[in-house]
Amino acid sequence: MNVADSEVVASILTETGYTITDTIEEAGLILINTCSIRENAETRVLNRLNTIGSIKRKRPGTIVGIIGCMAERLKEQLIETEKVVDIVVGPDAYRELPNLINGAEEGHKAVNVLLSREETYADISPVRMDKNGVTSFVSIMRGCNNMCAYCVVPYVRGAERSRNPESIVKEVKELLNKGYREVTLIGQNVDSYNWVGGEKHVHFPELLGNIASINPLLRVRFSTSHPKDISDALLHTMAGYDNICKHIHLPAQSGSSRILRLMNREYTREWYMDRVSAIRRIIPDCAISTDMIAGFCTETEEDHLQTLSLMEWAGFDFAYMFRYSERPGTKAARKYRDDVADEIKTRRLNEIIALQNRLSARSKRFDIGKVHLVLAEGTSKKSSDHLFGRNSQNKVVVFPKGNSVKGDYVKVLVEKSTSATLIGKVI
Ligand code: 5AD
Ligand code: SF4
Repeated sequence: MNVADSEVVASILTETGYTITDTIEEAGLILINTCSIRENAETRVLNRLNTIGSIKRKRPGTIVGIIGCMAERLKEQLIETEKVVDIVVGPDAYRELPNLINGAEEGHKAVNVLLSREETYADISPVRMDKNGVTSFVSIMRGCNNMCAYCVVPYVRGAERSRNPESIVKEVKELLNKGYREVTLIGQNVDSYNWVGGEKHVHFPELLGNIASINPLLRVRFSTSHPKDISDALLHTMAGYDNICKHIHLPAQSGSSRILRLMNREYTREWYMDRVSAIRRIIPDCAISTDMIAGFCTETEEDHLQTLSLMEWAGFDFAYMFRYSERPGTKAARKYRDDVADEIKTRRLNEIIALQNRLSARSKRFDIGKVHLVLAEGTSKKSSDHLFGRNSQNKVVVFPKGNSVKGDYVKVLVEKSTSATLIGKVI
């Protein structure tokens, strides 16, 4: 999400004459795109501001801006408490950046955190900052209408809006023409994508099918799915196209129906299991990853064991795992007590991580001895003689370069695995 937003911002600013620099000491304008999802994400930004303070002391004219979710959450407070900050700009106000920067250059500090019901930056062709030239994110919607009790996203990114499908198709075609071979369609809950134009409604399965039809050489991924909304129609669309990657990120958050209800996730453990079973039935080779939160309010040992048993049952290929972090203003912060002791949260998180490590290793063991179609993304960090890429299931595969270059589809026989990667040879 943040990469895509940074690219929109880069596009708005390059059109006004700014250029991007790789060295912070050279920059006349420093923007920090921020995340508020957990407290430690915000702490990192505040620490970063200290370093930037010393740069600004050396180069007094430097303009410093906080943009994104933390700007939205803390608003004026950021300018009041962080002297180094000149401008604060929320996720729906990026078009105002050039004006606000001009003002800051004349000494006016400014805040614009207006949220919008319409802004999708549909017409903006993002300037790619990832630079691998092969894979790219494409934002298909903004905001979120769910009210998960722990989550700050609906407050900082506003209501859900779907982007015009024609502008999405156009952006994807442009990427393809520039040599890109993979797009990841992103939104907080892609399953509720719903673009309404006159009489016409476009839902996510149709959009996904349209993007996949552009060119069979273009891989399509998407994230994030919501267990309450993921439909069999979507799974059938995925099964119908070889170039739609067989990987679904399906955050469970907890394996206990009681906790899921408190979290306001709008599904039960059984419902989640039914969705996993549907994926297995309709797309047998699909990888499934998840997000889990350890130690949400009132979580008992029994609830925690339910989380572990759901993970074991689903056999997730990969997971992002977090300790619950109370976020001001959310339903959980207002209504529930953050009553799981720190050391218990940490212990439960460690158990979740240990189990996932075992599941991830097992999932990779199943890949050994099989041939995978890998899209080469670049040179391996560890060896310049090797390329890395991902298979359809989103697992990283490293293999000897041979005659391949990035952007190629390469058939790789996987021979072994490490904790994070599959290693093989080209066949
Ligand atoms: N505490 C911990 N984890 C959180 N997430 C969202 N909000 C919180 C929070 N307050 C996690 C969820 C979500 C992922 C993006 O971040 O697992 O799926
Ligand atoms: Fe947050 Fe829930 Fe929306 Fe995801 S679906 S962004 S967890 S409110």
